[in-house]
Amino acid sequence: MNATQEQLKQKLAQALAAAFGAEYTGVDPILVTASNPKFGDFQANVALSLSKKLGMQPRAIASAIVEKLDISDICEPPEIAGPGFINLKLQTSYLEAQLNAIKTDSRLGVPKAKNPQKEIVDFSSPNIAKEMHVGHLRSTIIGDCIARILEFRGHDVLRLNHVGDWGTQFGMLITHLVDTYPDIGLMETSLGNYLHGDINIGDLVEFYREAKKKFDNDEEFRERSRQAVVSLQSEKEPFTTAAWNLICQASRKEFQEIYDRLDIKLIERGESFYNPYLPAVVEDLEKTGLVEENQGAKCVFLDGFTNREGEPLPLIVQKSDGGYNYATTDLAALRYRIQEDQAKRIIYVTDAGQANHFAQFMQVAKKANWIPDDVELVHVPFGLVLGDDGKKFKTRSGDTVRLRDLLDEAVSRTRADLEARLTEEGREETEEFINNVADVVGISAVKYADLSQNRTSNYVFSYDKMLALKGNTAPYMLYAYVRTQGISREGNIDFENLGTDAKIILKEETELTLAKHLLQLDEVINEVEQDLLPNRLCDYLYNLSDKFNKFYENCPVLKSEEPIRTSRLMLCDLTAKTLKLGLDLLGIKVLERM
Ligand code: ARG
Repeated sequence: MNATQEQLKQKLAQALAAAFGAEYTGVDPILVTASNPKFGDFQANVALSLSKKLGMQPRAIASAIVEKLDISDICEPPEIAGPGFINLKLQTSYLEAQLNAIKTDSRLGVPKAKNPQKEIVDFSSPNIAKEMHVGHLRSTIIGDCIARILEFRGHDVLRLNHVGDWGTQFGMLITHLVDTYPDIGLMETSLGNYLHGDINIGDLVEFYREAKKKFDNDEEFRERSRQAVVSLQSEKEPFTTAAWNLICQASRKEFQEIYDRLDIKLIERGESFYNPYLPAVVEDLEKTGLVEENQGAKCVFLDGFTNREGEPLPLIVQKSDGGYNYATTDLAALRYRIQEDQAKRIIYVTDAGQANHFAQFMQVAKKANWIPDDVELVHVPFGLVLGDDGKKFKTRSGDTVRLRDLLDEAVSRTRADLEARLTEEGREETEEFINNVADVVGISAVKYADLSQNRTSNYVFSYDKMLALKGNTAPYMLYAYVRTQGISREGNIDFENLGTDAKIILKEETELTLAKHLLQLDEVINEVEQDLLPNRLCDYLYNLSDKFNKFYENCPVLKSEEPIRTSRLMLCDLTAKTLKLGLDLLGIKVLERM
């Protein structure tokens, strides 16, 4: 709902109370977008729903409301249609005034949130020494987009990378590290100097695989690994801590490369951060009487979850060996984020496969009364990335696709397409230009392909589709920007310093349609802020370029007489600015030429 709708809703509610008495104050006028633009822009359906209560025909109710309705500064005279709909059509002069007001506003009419609050977006969150896979890529792209939108709305956003840096896998990794580099120099006792020399663990994934193999096959190795975990988690052994750090550091370097390429900012606060807070989680839960012992493990039984045998399912908060797990850590993180960070909304972006995990620990936190009424917890699930074969996206040899390779491939294909196009058009461009365009378009294509899908469904990863110049793709959107920007540039006017008499004037149908769409940015951003579905913004931008094209086909711009010429140039400029802002909120940079 944008500001205009808000205003109309209010006026309708007032008219309703004026017509039928104060008890009707606060009745929702049921204002919706018109089902058909022929009937106007909006319709209020309240008359139909009040018919029984008032004992009147809906049409009579509608006319009683309309009689008291004063919206002459916004709409044409309202019309009553069908069984009793009140149809509203925005006045052209109203639209013109709105556009004229936003055309020099850097926020393009999107207000900041009335009540800015602390919001945490927990996203990306790969696991140390394990593969950062396409699932993490989705989380990274979607999470970043959500964070950008909340930031734009003026919220205080904390972007947290909840990396898996504390699991039992570290026991075997540390043990394998020591075995592989016996003279590792980690034994140095002078504090702060544990890490000798540069140890290049090399391919961490391979390193992980080797460690796992030994762990699975060698009892003695397994035992040493267990000891290493105990030693690490007690945080008393500088040597193990240093070895752990070394492994994390190597992983971190690889993650950072991906984040840099994707232009993603994140604050790392991994699972290990919450280690000191884990015992209190279990102690405090015990105080609430929710904890039960089950085969030595401390559990909280859950409502609505059963195992395969139909028995009630517990959430384990402390294992029988005293260790804590993923859920305990999330409980500790939750408390920390509420108490220390003072977050009012906590958003977790992970694959839908973890939905149960989130529902479960959130249920436990609620039962324990740890969630104040003004705090909202949201799991933002997303579907799988599939290959052409409809199965999980893999390389031809069946391995997980490395993100670096995936991005490289998108960029090199873009480059090839671009070079072919340049030859075809007989254009000469510098190496620098080609590199930059290939990079921006390739990365944007990957991001846009992900964001333009409703995140809750699976999607098929296809380079061909995402790089296509037609359709709802990044290259298409980037072109649309180049085009609109090109036209407004060609007009050669200084948009920022236009006199007050330079006004947007709307005459043609396609101009009106474009104008109305431009004024809906506010509404779309509002929606994404609520339901956290970035594809709504993609759809909006895609429709915008479509409406722009129709306008441009129908309305000559540069060849028009003044004042229409300037007005239309301003529409082009506003479209360009809207595309740029919208794409920026998706994490996509625009190009001036491509
Ligand atoms: N590291 C986890 C994974 O790779 C994701 C963590 C998501 N965040 C959280 N607070 N649990 O699946």
